[in-house]
Amino acid sequence: MLKPYVIYPVKTEAALQAALSVRRTVFIEEQAVPEELEIDEYDSISSTTLHMIAYLNEQPVGTGRVRPYTEQGTGKAERVAVLASERGSGLGRLIMQTMEEAARRQGYTTLRLNAQCHAQAFYEKLGYQPVGDVFDEAGIPHITMTKNLYAR
Ligand code: COA
Repeated sequence: MLKPYVIYPVKTEAALQAALSVRRTVFIEEQAVPEELEIDEYDSISSTTLHMIAYLNEQPVGTGRVRPYTEQGTGKAERVAVLASERGSGLGRLIMQTMEEAARRQGYTTLRLNAQCHAQAFYEKLGYQPVGDVFDEAGIPHITMTKNLYAR
């Protein structure tokens, strides 16, 4: 059974810092992504970038964000992270589904993402399809994937 996770859109500086704390643990400490690549200009509270934060018993345990992509109607999903202690519990899927709902409300019809190759099957289960070839980002193999948010 799914644990009592709660997922909110980030609206306060404290919630943003909680989301960044998850990303620091997962991407900077665990995956050795350099901090200057991980934290960028989209990491502020703005009307265009939507950050999500997931809590379990008031502790931050997961996050993800959606920002506008260059193509009209397309959002870019990024920085999806679940703390190691919670992986395999359905939280990653819940974060993606919450981001997709929010993206539809913002008028996006498509989501695009650069998946770490080890997570390709995770995104495929959510309906994302690979596009193009594998490429390197921060020393980690990635593949671009897209999903039509209105496909049946
Ligand atoms: N490979 C294959 N399948 C996977 C998978 C993986 N790495 N991770 C999850 N899945 C599958 C699960 O088995 C589950 O399948 P089911 O519906 O048949 O039971 C489904 O995907 C949903 O899994 P869930 O438990 O919601 O995933 P999670 O909470 O473990 O989150 C990540 C997945 C990728 C977000 C998480 O492993 C993570 O944060 N990893 C480190 C950061 C990272 O690499 N982020 C991705 C950047 S692109």
